Amino acid sequence: MDIRPIGVFDSGLGGLTAVRSLRKILPEEDLIYFGDTSRVPYGGRSRETILKYARQDIRFLRSFDLKAILIACGTVSTTSLPTLRAENDLPMVGVVEPTCARAAAVTKNKRVGIIATQASVRAGAYKETLAKLDGDIEVFAKACPLFVPLVENGRFRTGDVVIETIAREYLEPMRQTRIDTLILGCTHYPLLTEIIADVMGPDVELVSAGEESAFELKRMLKAQELRNSESRQGEATYYVSDRVESFEETASWFLQEDLRHGANQIDIDRY
Ligand code: DGL
Repeated sequence: MDIRPIGVFDSGLGGLTAVRSLRKILPEEDLIYFGDTSRVPYGGRSRETILKYARQDIRFLRSFDLKAILIACGTVSTTSLPTLRAENDLPMVGVVEPTCARAAAVTKNKRVGIIATQASVRAGAYKETLAKLDGDIEVFAKACPLFVPLVENGRFRTGDVVIETIAREYLEPMRQTRIDTLILGCTHYPLLTEIIADVMGPDVELVSAGEESAFELKRMLKAQELRNSESRQGEATYYVSDRVESFEETASWFLQEDLRHGANQIDIDRY
């Protein structure tokens, strides 16, 4: 048994979708979440900048005695995971491998779509990982840069003409590729599940990155005997690099529950 907390980080609020999955799948674990709200979004930035930010995020998280880190951010996972793993003597789970494993298991016609940020699509990590898992899978990738700002501004509900129009524009060409599986490769996209499903139709299975990585973390903790006692209820503590008020106002959209404790602001430039 290992009582140390798990660190989770993201470029901002979106990683709370992974926290939501973790709270369900590993309710006994304590979580320390860092959202880099002063520098979000990462998705349009260069790999060098994303890696620099991710290193600082990890240095902050490692000021706590952690047993593992979940990189909830799709953009950090796709651009920087191997480097970060090599630099840290701590188990680290990203979103790419577990999500691809699930997509490869689910697809029947071996046509898999992936939607994510520009940096993630440019990095090609989903495509490479799927090719390693099954060389017959054909991958169709599409960056959807307007999804993140729209979700952050509350435009994610069905009936919202703005998000529905943008979703159709991004996803109609994807629908025409006849994929049967679509990876939601970005923290924010689970909030758009209904809207995306409406465009893609009932025959396309949606695979959410946050949820799959939470399952992978559980498997890893079990294999390494790092799990906490299942009889306890874990706590989550939240840190951000910008105004806590903004975080607290919108966190519940992603968590789908109210924050039990307020967030704390830190100066990420110190790390
Ligand atoms: N967290 C990012 C991701 O999952 C989305 C927001 C951003 O661009 O920073 O890719």
